[in-house]
Amino acid sequence: MSVKLSKVSKNGSGLNIEWSDGKKSNFNFMWLRDNCPLDMDEDTRERTFNILEVSENIHPKEYKINVDGKLEIEWSEGNHTSFYDPNWLRKNCYTLKEKYISPYKLWDSKLNSNLESISIDYENIMQSDEDLIQWLNLLHEKGFSIVKNSPTEKKSALPLLNRISHIRETFFNTPFEVISIPKPNNLAYTSKRLVNHMDLPYYELPPGYQFLHCLVNNAEGGMSRAVDGFFVADYLRNNDPETFKTLTRVPVVFVNRDYTQDKKRLYHAQEITLNKDGDYNDIRFSVPTMGIMDCPPEDMEKFYKAHYKFGKLLHDKRFMVEFKLKEGDIFCFNNRRVLHGRTEYDPNTGHRHLQGYYLDRDEIISRLHYLKKAEF
Ligand code: OGA
Ligand code: ZN
Repeated sequence: MSVKLSKVSKNGSGLNIEWSDGKKSNFNFMWLRDNCPLDMDEDTRERTFNILEVSENIHPKEYKINVDGKLEIEWSEGNHTSFYDPNWLRKNCYTLKEKYISPYKLWDSKLNSNLESISIDYENIMQSDEDLIQWLNLLHEKGFSIVKNSPTEKKSALPLLNRISHIRETFFNTPFEVISIPKPNNLAYTSKRLVNHMDLPYYELPPGYQFLHCLVNNAEGGMSRAVDGFFVADYLRNNDPETFKTLTRVPVVFVNRDYTQDKKRLYHAQEITLNKDGDYNDIRFSVPTMGIMDCPPEDMEKFYKAHYKFGKLLHDKRFMVEFKLKEGDIFCFNNRRVLHGRTEYDPNTGHRHLQGYYLDRDEIISRLHYLKKAEF
């Protein structure tokens, strides 16, 4: 983009700008002073100017388009002159903001017949940043990817995950061992079926991503399941807005009170939350770890009906993907979007051992920004 400033004029508490392509912008005086590009520390790229040290009436004493084509402002206070590059101004113009476009690509059971589209090879990600970006895009946009042909030694998923960032620790330890054991502290550590769920909904901030690395899987059963919670939420938003509204409004309680812990966890959150643009933020759904519901009495019936409907849809064959993890596969998913489950397996017919890891969502998104050289 290369656009020029053609005209600048004062308008109340801001400057009107006319651009060479005919578009018009307005920039508030305090906004302009606050974002003066000269007031950034070179190394940290943190702001060195403190708006609290000038008055709220700060305004341009003089302003012009200078010989370099930049907007030049001499300020009424602080003996300071700012220079704004037109491309920078246009890129950050909040009055010409483009409409929000969701980064999410929603999917349903049709993905079953095209799992290659979300599969990516371990060695490629290890060797090339292009492939790392492709993997991160899958995680961010689809919330689901399967890494193929990884080593099957214990803890060998770590170097791959460290291509992204550090691990998010939880009380399940790193990695957590998904294997059937006596006296388990989680249903995952049995051979029983797991209904579709997210992990750790009783944390204030449950881990953003989960990685289940398959070391052995030759017992009968133990099929993995995934469902795009954003797809199902979107289905409700379009087909049953009342239910959708209830799920975005009424807080649900989640608990952990397992016998191995010297802590007891409890957290309230809605099953569906939205971001500032009305797009999907989190899906929080887990039948086994739901606590004893304590919403206002007038909401209880409404809530249970909505919860029941949502739960049924989250297990509906129209939306769900089912596959069997192979040794060396890593099942990767957005833990606050894609619910996961498994069918029961028979430990008398063979072995099943997965090692699990978590990463925060911040790490996926910030790494993508960095690798794609995002400017902000
Ligand atoms: C888990 C889990 C699924 C599986 O460990 O959180 O849900 O396939 N495991 O064993
Ligand atoms: Zn789980």
